[in-house]
Amino acid sequence: MDPDQHIPNRPREIWKLMRSGPLLGRVRLQPAKNSVLKLLAACLLAEGTHVLDEVPGIADVGYVRDILETAGAGWAQEGRRVFVKSPAQPNPRLDIPAVSSLRASVVFLAPLLARCGTVSMPFPGGDDFGLRPIDLHLSALALMGAEFEVNGSGVKVWARQGLRGARIVLEYPSHTATDNIMMAAVLAKGTTVIVNAAREPEVSDLADFLRAMGARIEGDGTSHVSIEGTDSLVPAPSPFVPIPDRVEAATFMTACALCKGSITIENARPEHLERLIEKFDAMGVRCVAASQGLEVACEARLSAVDVPSLPYPGIATDYLPLLTVALSVAEGVSVITENVFGPNRFRFVGELAKMGADITIEGHHAVVRGVPSLRGAAVKALDVRAGAAMVLAGLAAEGQTVVEGIEHVRRGYEALAEKLVSLGASIEQVRPPSATG
Ligand code: UD1
Repeated sequence: MDPDQHIPNRPREIWKLMRSGPLLGRVRLQPAKNSVLKLLAACLLAEGTHVLDEVPGIADVGYVRDILETAGAGWAQEGRRVFVKSPAQPNPRLDIPAVSSLRASVVFLAPLLARCGTVSMPFPGGDDFGLRPIDLHLSALALMGAEFEVNGSGVKVWARQGLRGARIVLEYPSHTATDNIMMAAVLAKGTTVIVNAAREPEVSDLADFLRAMGARIEGDGTSHVSIEGTDSLVPAPSPFVPIPDRVEAATFMTACALCKGSITIENARPEHLERLIEKFDAMGVRCVAASQGLEVACEARLSAVDVPSLPYPGIATDYLPLLTVALSVAEGVSVITENVFGPNRFRFVGELAKMGADITIEGHHAVVRGVPSLRGAAVKALDVRAGAAMVLAGLAAEGQTVVEGIEHVRRGYEALAEKLVSLGASIEQVRPPSATG
């Protein structure tokens, strides 16, 4: 699959990077991409105007706006405050290309099914990590009384008798399947129990948002979530502020590990980063929870560690490209294991090899033999996190690195270059006139 098939803007944006460091100063995190996108979809569950604060200007938010507008919602914005006007009768036919541009579009299934009794859409897209099926979503909705039809162009789901509560034992704690089940359950008849639910902080953020709309949910953040259905919901009475982005936090932690220095990540939530902090600790990066945020410092060469990705509270698969770059210059040999997605997660390793990294892929393991330093090269951003990882590699490499395909990075980061530059990084952004970011 062409990794750029969903990126409309060509010619592509490039960034030129020079070796940087030590990094010094403070940065503030944007709200979590993987929360904001779900909260926006959840607005369709209740008629009226919903207000979300600090919504980041990332490309994926633009796609979700397109989907909301196709569903009949209104969108207004004052700075980073977004007003979503959810209609009395949403349009449940989401036949627009934006749906295939991101994985998060799958979370429009439940709100529209719950409100309209039917929904149809093309298959969700997103980063190409191999197959990303939606069978767990569909089988859970079927237990709640829905029927579905999947064909070459997408999926149609309907519930003739409405949705009813059910006991759903997830085969795998899928993040977006948990989101979808919660959103279907809040308007279903009776009680739904999710066993082996995803425990990601973004799932709890969605639960908080739904509770603010009048939903009855208990147990989110654990693997046993219970939802009592209700007839209708109303928009939350006050503007909702999503949690800060822990993957963006991991990005700045990695930047500090690679470039050395001492930074404060102002609004980071250390309790969302526990296993990652342990790993950085073992690598020789000092991470200290401060009164508001996280202080990160690193002076010496990193040490090798083994890293397996796992569902939360394990090390997130989204951190792996970042950690791979850090460990590529660590002392010793690290084994990084991808347990969530397929080996495609490691596609970017070919790009990192152009910079002198010594990494062998064996199935879903990457064996990383640390080299003393990387060297600048022309490389590609292949997806949002791998793209950010290549940017950081460029800041640690000897000479100039040129990263092409920054559009991928803009899917999830609002101002990555500006924030890194404020810490002392050397980045020149070259945006072609046609790019909209
Ligand atoms: C979400 C995040 C993504 C993150 C991932 C894992 C969003 C928009 N994206 O993706 O950034 O990397 O969680 O933390 O929130 N699976 C199935 N059938 C399904 C659903 C999932 O087999 O119906 C499999 C997937 O192929 C994958 C694994 O379960 O191997 C994890 O997927 P899941 O937790 O659902 O990730 P996403 O929700 O796609």
